[in-house]
Amino acid sequence: MTAGDSSQDPSRDPSNDPLQRTREIAVSVAREAGRILLEGWGEGTNRRPAIDFKSEDINLVTEYDKRSEALIVERLAAAFPEDRVVAEEGTTHGQERAGQRVWYVDPLDGTTNFAHGMPIFSVSLGMAIDRRPVLGVVEAPALGWSFSGTTTGGGATFNDKPIAPSLIERLGGALVVTGFPYARNPVQNNIAEFAALTAAAQGTRRIGSAALDLCYVACGWLDGYWERYLHAWDLVGGAAIVLGAGGQATDLDGRPFDGLTGRVLATNGRIHGEMQRVLEGVARAANAPWP
Ligand code: IPD
Ligand code: CA
Ligand code: CA
Repeated sequence: MTAGDSSQDPSRDPSNDPLQRTREIAVSVAREAGRILLEGWGEGTNRRPAIDFKSEDINLVTEYDKRSEALIVERLAAAFPEDRVVAEEGTTHGQERAGQRVWYVDPLDGTTNFAHGMPIFSVSLGMAIDRRPVLGVVEAPALGWSFSGTTTGGGATFNDKPIAPSLIERLGGALVVTGFPYARNPVQNNIAEFAALTAAAQGTRRIGSAALDLCYVACGWLDGYWERYLHAWDLVGGAAIVLGAGGQATDLDGRPFDGLTGRVLATNGRIHGEMQRVLEGVARAANAPWP
């Protein structure tokens, strides 16, 4: 088996996965939502969607976020009436109970890219049980990219082909990615972490969709990703895909991933400890909270 090929691993055979049918439905819902987003995005044109602002003046929302969300929540509630659905722009369905399936929906992840005509944006559907990610679907309609995965044996795929994280062993040989909070004055603005990882890694990137950042790690294009101040809808779908692909997704300090903390460290597993130590070193040096 080589990097990017988990097709030989029988424990990752989607046909044995109890969530396979749920995954297929979620993929088709995300694809339908992706078509709504494309109505507001024009490649190579100056077509730009009208923008509203949320609490901070750099946190955007468009009619396409809202239309995509309305469609997704309606479809998920109809297909899975027992499940709870929580979506970024405020729509919810169902009450939360222990052991229940909860869908976290980002109807448009990478809104700033979308609003500027950049094709790097996605629809992210993540399902968790008791805060642990079990299924993820991330659809990037302008790029023709479809990622999905489960942590229940179905592995992870990119455009229907099995994926696996990279085999890079050292942070010094790794390409890593992050994002920065919308809040203008967060306790930690990630600049010191970005500087430290730029010094320690082969390269750093800021691409603009947390859900896709996780997918890049899952399929081995990038080796590691960290970010703070996110929400479960940014993270749960992509984290399920990283874990399904055989990568590692945790809190920044290595504790089990929990989308409600808004923090993530996702890697190919091989550079996890090294990245964690760099991030901890920055926080300790600044007397900042850890993680
Ligand atoms: C944002 C993107 C971005 C991340 C931000 C997120 P949105 O989501 O995922 O990469 O750095 O913190 O909030 O607002 O485009 O859905
Ligand atoms: Ca988002
Ligand atoms: Ca969003």
